[in-house]
Amino acid sequence: MTTIPQTAPTAPGYIPLLGHALRLAHPKRLGYVQALRAHGPVVKILIGPREVYVLNSPAALQQMLLAPSGTFTKGMLFDRTRPFFGNGILSSNGPFHRRQRRMIQPAFHKQRITEYFDRMSALAAKHIGAWAPDTPFTADHRMRETATQLISHTLFTSQAATRMAAVVARALPVITTGVAWRTLAPADFLYRIPLPANRRFDTLCAELRETTQELIRSHQAEGTDQADLVSLLLSARDTDGLPMSEEELRDEIITIFTAGVETAATTLAWACHILTTRPELTNQLRAEADDVLGDRPIAYSDLERLRLTGAFINEILRAFHPTWLLMRRTTGPVVLDGVAIPAQAEILYSPTTLHRDPLLYPDPDRFDPDRWLDGRTDTLPRCAYIPFSAGNRQCIGDSFAIAELHIVLTTLLRRWLIEPVPGRRARETAHAVLYPRNLAVTVIAPPPR
Ligand code: HEM
Repeated sequence: MTTIPQTAPTAPGYIPLLGHALRLAHPKRLGYVQALRAHGPVVKILIGPREVYVLNSPAALQQMLLAPSGTFTKGMLFDRTRPFFGNGILSSNGPFHRRQRRMIQPAFHKQRITEYFDRMSALAAKHIGAWAPDTPFTADHRMRETATQLISHTLFTSQAATRMAAVVARALPVITTGVAWRTLAPADFLYRIPLPANRRFDTLCAELRETTQELIRSHQAEGTDQADLVSLLLSARDTDGLPMSEEELRDEIITIFTAGVETAATTLAWACHILTTRPELTNQLRAEADDVLGDRPIAYSDLERLRLTGAFINEILRAFHPTWLLMRRTTGPVVLDGVAIPAQAEILYSPTTLHRDPLLYPDPDRFDPDRWLDGRTDTLPRCAYIPFSAGNRQCIGDSFAIAELHIVLTTLLRRWLIEPVPGRRARETAHAVLYPRNLAVTVIAPPPR
């Protein structure tokens, strides 16, 4: 017996012409997307005239993420990033995406991560060791700086990378906020008005492109293999034996840099929030780092023995997942978790709201790393936990990110005591990513052991 697919219900709160766009433009947009779960596994909203299907169930997500390639493209969100980030692998589609991914993938193989690991650990020790004690800082800013340093000097070793890191640190907050607005409030004419904010956005995008081109040219001029991502991408060949063009290379470098910095930085900023609010857990994490590492630097082989740290990272990526809004577009009609979706429809999925579903994670607002250690999460359905998404668009930097998070956390815990600044609490803010706005903390030297 074949079951007839259902029609997706339309979410309440529809306003003629605008649809549900005001809900997404509102500061409480994450709460709104989260509340859509009550309407079933797939629910329809409208952004202006455009229908967007929101996926709420692991089954619907599994069917979408693991579908044969070509069933979905990346959709509206990524179309809007293309003018700024070009056609890098985060936004490209089809055979071009497959070609680029095959050429980039070797840079992120496990063997490569083990090679980057010691370089990244030494950099983290130097960078975090140089923080000024007793001087308040904003967690997301400081962590963006840290992630930028780690990526730029691990994946890009040339002198030109230092300039690129400086431009990225300056440009990224402006660019990601600008792209978020252009997606959530897609009224293009607004962004063509020569307002200072629009001019700054355009200038920084141009500067980022120019600096990246400089980085590539300086590599080409030196002509030697510098054992880094740029050298690897310069020497990569597709199945026809062809290299990437300079423009393709530029787009991929900007994409990898931006995709890697913002996500890791906000994850680490949320970690600061927990470390300053849960002193007992913080002591347990510090004790584990001391037990496993003693006085030596962290090595790749330590990761599996840092069990509480691993569970802590899993729980941060559950409770505060940075990519709260991701999209796809159907290429033909599909049925997801029993609900029919037409061709060329936009799809929205949110790892953040999925990871807060009480049916999957009882007591979801409780930050509880033990749920990853005592078997409670062993029976989760497939695609119920997707910190790095899944399928052919899974995060290419997942192992790099896990290594980086372990390195920064253990380095921070062993070097400093981290304390909250009284009166400054984290404000959960869903912009391009979910981050703790205004979270001010300070570090002080720990008492001698
Ligand atoms: C905690 C850190 C990170 C998180 C949570 C994260 C999460 C994700 C997610 C959810 C996606 C899929 C997006 C989608 O479905 O549309 C993705 C894709 C991607 N990520 Fe990450 N990421 C992290 C770190 C990194 C790092 C460190 C890099 C590079 C150094 C990176 C590079 C990329 C790239 C290039 C893609 C696009 C892959 C493709 O479509 O083929 N990410 N990431």
